[in-house]
Amino acid sequence: MNLLAVSGSLRTGSSNLRLLEAVRLLAPAGFFVTVRGPLDDLLHFNPDIEEAGLPDVAAQWRAAVDACDVLLISSPEYAHGVPGVMKNALDWLVGGMEMTDKPFALLNATPPGEYAQASLIETLRIMGGKHLKTVSIEVPLRGSKLDAAGIAAHPEFSPSIRRMFAALEQHSTGVNT
Ligand SMILES: Cc1cc2nc3c(=O)[nH]c(=O)nc-3n(C[C@H](O)[C@H](O)[C@H](O)COP(=O)(O)O)c2cc1C
Repeated sequence: MNLLAVSGSLRTGSSNLRLLEAVRLLAPAGFFVTVRGPLDDLLHFNPDIEEAGLPDVAAQWRAAVDACDVLLISSPEYAHGVPGVMKNALDWLVGGMEMTDKPFALLNATPPGEYAQASLIETLRIMGGKHLKTVSIEVPLRGSKLDAAGIAAHPEFSPSIRRMFAALEQHSTGVNT
């Protein structure tokens, strides 16, 4: 199963990015996790640009989403909303079919963040995505300076990530869709 892991934070040392890297470290056999680079390589979405021909970076972003089996998003909340860079990346997908029936799960490195989570779910759903509730996890890293290896080894955090993979396994076998 190919997982595309995308962080909504551009911050060096981002807890969301460290969480996704920890997910990559803990991936069991048969799971391949690609952590996408920072989303600020995508220019601001503009339908005029899209109509004139997709810029390479936007086309590559769409292709990466298309190629994954499950999209994993870990995003902070800014002022009760989704960070602009994350929403911008999703806007580039609206005109394509990549999200149609695409399973997605949300990770939350800094709960509560419930407004951003709800907004992401709504946006991804209206684009055709299938929310894997049982795969979505909270890993409370607020205030933690642990790196990805430290998160992956942490007695409180690593079990949540392992449960996420177990839920993905169930999803892939159709037990828990
Ligand atoms: C401009 C700004 C606005 C924020 N607004 C919220 C918010 O509305 N709700 C919340 O739970 N956290 C909020 N936070 C805290 C972030 O969720 C927190 O800084 C988080 O660690 C950022 O993720 P990162 O470590 O991956 O960069 C805000 C942070 C910033 C910088």
